[in-house]
Amino acid sequence: MGRAFVYVILGGGVAAGYAAFEFSKRGISHGELCIISEETFAPYERPALSKGFLLPEDSARLPSFHTCVGTNEERLTPKWYKEHGIELVLGTRVKSADVRRKTLLTAAGETISYKILIVATGARALKLEEFGVNGSDAENVCYMRDLADATRLVSVMQSCVGGNAIVIGGGYIGMECAASLVINKINVTMVFPEAHCMPRLFTPKIAGYYEDFYKSKGVKFIKGTVLSSFENDTSGKVTAVILRDGTRLTADMVMVGIGIRPNTILFEGQLTLEKGGIKVNGHMQTSNSSVYAVGDVAAFPVKLFGEIRRLEHVDSARKSARHAVAAIMAPEKTRGDFDYLPFFYSRVFTLSWQFYGDNVGEVVHYGDFSGRSFGAYWINKGKLVGSFLEGGTKEEYEAIAKVTRLQPVVADIAELERQGLGFALSV
Ligand code: FDA
Ligand code: NAD
Repeated sequence: MGRAFVYVILGGGVAAGYAAFEFSKRGISHGELCIISEETFAPYERPALSKGFLLPEDSARLPSFHTCVGTNEERLTPKWYKEHGIELVLGTRVKSADVRRKTLLTAAGETISYKILIVATGARALKLEEFGVNGSDAENVCYMRDLADATRLVSVMQSCVGGNAIVIGGGYIGMECAASLVINKINVTMVFPEAHCMPRLFTPKIAGYYEDFYKSKGVKFIKGTVLSSFENDTSGKVTAVILRDGTRLTADMVMVGIGIRPNTILFEGQLTLEKGGIKVNGHMQTSNSSVYAVGDVAAFPVKLFGEIRRLEHVDSARKSARHAVAAIMAPEKTRGDFDYLPFFYSRVFTLSWQFYGDNVGEVVHYGDFSGRSFGAYWINKGKLVGSFLEGGTKEEYEAIAKVTRLQPVVADIAELERQGLGFALSV
């Protein structure tokens, strides 16, 4: 039993939605493209899950956040895919791939063949068990990667109003979910091993601002330690967490955000891997010329830095997907390389920040850290390579993006510090 398509997108997340949109803009025939996804929903904007989806009132629900509303473009509902002759094969896990034969085998036993494959399998949330802690399958322990996780979190939150939540991990999920828990009137304690929150990006000074803001909302921080075990009641529900330093914290629920692993397993031994992802060239093409990889799973050359990176952010998922489709559909000689400026952002409570570029080298902070707007530049080998801004306007964010792409030489760091945001605005 089997079906054949010209183009198959494996995975039905953010990158899949933007790739489908790009295919339709460039013109494909009905029946040429299919998307296979383990999820039972058409592609949606995943960032909504830890933000609007968790609000106690006016919460975001599908179909409102299907791709591509995140970039103010068309909202691709299941009806849109039908009208465009794009097959959605949902609720279907691919269990093996054969890139030599150009086939995928689904868990239901169907073989789907392709001429061109786009791998958009994203990543999975790491489990506490992978760090030697057992029991994270308890009904009041939550993870956050997909709509099923977010739906479960909402129901656990609703049963815990006024109670205590322990948030494990001080990264993006920890920070965004902690804010949502507070908004849902739950007392939050955050636990993470590092000295400050968001260690992959924030400087201690920037982290200090957000931690103080969270503390003003009642959040407690326990840093420099990790969870060692759970205590459960007779029904199996977690009632307390024990930390490695011996601290015992009573808990009505636990939220875990301890990082991800890209879903590369189907292609290990078949495609070249790098930085934990599938290595691609500037056209997002893998070591097999019929297979492309995009989004969280792809390790691609970031021209600006002259090295291969794997990024775990929505803007790169959207743009890498569109670039892959452009490369697939364009004649060989007109194909350009992906030239991407890394961009990350987050919104929590009333706060909102954006970051462009790379956070390496010497840091120059500017602005009012006791007020609403401040930022930082990163200077590496004499050039400005990264920019962060909290509380900026549209024009200010555009200015820091522009200056970061230009990578100007910074001869006088003290002068840059004095000019602050004005430096970006004057370029
Ligand atoms: P994505 O994870 O979106 O999709 C992968 C798809 O592949 C899923 O549908 C999965 O089921 C499917 N799949 C995997 N293996 C399969 C198999 N074997 N068979 C069938 N299907 C399979 N970024 C940002 O810049 N700003 C933000 O605010 C946020 N916020 C945010 C919130 C939350 C809760 C999460 C989890 C993530 C974010 N992100 C973010 C990160 C951003 O959402 C992420 O980078 C993109 O979703 C990546 O898109 P992909 O399409 O690569 O993977
Ligand atoms: P992360 O990599 O941002 O943070 C992981 C955190 O886990 C670390 O900062 C650390 O504090 C903690 N940690 C690691 N090992 C631990 C341990 N043994 N015990 C306790 N804590 C431990 O990952 P995440 O927060 O889980 O986010 C998952 C993915 O979702 C990432 O790819 C992220 O980029 C994406 N995401 C992005 C956004 C955004 O860009 N605004 C928002 C939400 C999620």
